[in-house]
Amino acid sequence: MSSVDSNDKWAALRAAQVPPADSEGDFSSPDPESYTGKRDIPQPQPLERHGPARVIAMANQKGGVGKTTTTINLGAALAEYGRKVLLVDFDPQGALSVGFGTNPHTLDLTVYNLLMQEDVDIDDVMMKTNVAGLRLMPANIDLSAAEIQLVNEVAREQTLARVLRPVIPDFDFVLVDCQPSLGLLTVNALTAAHSVLVPLECEFFSLRGVALLLDTIDKVRERLNYDLELEGILATMYDSRTTHSRQVLQRVVEAFGEKVFSTVITRTVRFPETTVAGEPITTWAPASSGARAYRQLARELIASTDK
Ligand SMILES: Nc1ncnc2c1ncn2[C@@H]1O[C@H](COP(=O)(O)OP(=O)(O)OP(=O)(O)O)[C@@H](O)[C@H]1O
Ligand SMILES: [Mg+2]
Repeated sequence: MSSVDSNDKWAALRAAQVPPADSEGDFSSPDPESYTGKRDIPQPQPLERHGPARVIAMANQKGGVGKTTTTINLGAALAEYGRKVLLVDFDPQGALSVGFGTNPHTLDLTVYNLLMQEDVDIDDVMMKTNVAGLRLMPANIDLSAAEIQLVNEVAREQTLARVLRPVIPDFDFVLVDCQPSLGLLTVNALTAAHSVLVPLECEFFSLRGVALLLDTIDKVRERLNYDLELEGILATMYDSRTTHSRQVLQRVVEAFGEKVFSTVITRTVRFPETTVAGEPITTWAPASSGARAYRQLARELIASTDK
């Protein structure tokens, strides 16, 4: 997708308000494609050579919107298509690491060590996963200290970008799973990234905090990372049975237009189950609708980024 070129588009979103649930409107179609438009998504071609990586920050300061679930499953689906992918856990809760069956408390080396200690080798921090071509940089609660310790560092916002630099040539995609805040860690992720993917749940108040997120993205773009783009808005937790879900999706599409991915992630209990299983839905339930949705998202991303 092309870069977001104007504040106008985002101004539209800032102004967007979800109407009350009882407002008039044609929300009869249960099919999300009627809102997002069915776009042809080509099958990805095999890559002849890998890298340099497109770094994508998965960000939304609202909690529980599907950032980690999307990081895991989009990452796994991209790897299924032969892409080399690094997933960076950038949340002290370590949910991304847990999602791959890792116990974050028992780890010797995490992204925290890489950020704070000069002598740590990134190869010693990256871990293999159950998916070929997919590697994980884990985190645990230690990372919460980095938020405070980084404040006194020179170029504190560029720390993640600096430590990732050596491996950018080795991967096709680096996905950074942000914590639900707009603090220094998230600013580091936005500074290291080429683009931001915003998971947005199809819930009543989901648009409320987005203006603040877009302001932060604007500021990072003005001051730290001139080329930062909006990769896209991903509607998550969609429930076709509720008028409410359809209404929110329609509002999101009105506000963001082309920037909304055609792929919509439906609400299903299969996702919480995969967390218990400690693996992506693409390997745990390969034929499930959730797995298929994340594969489609991967195809959209590959098609739009030429990767
Ligand atoms: N499409 C979905 N349908 C049903 N449950 C989902 C879906 N996506 C995610 N979940 C579940 O919702 C919860 C929150 O998801 P997730 O952890 O991905 O969100 P998050 O944005 O990373 O949260 P946090 O802000 O706390 O990091 C998890 O229990 C997850 O399994
Ligand atoms: Mg998370």
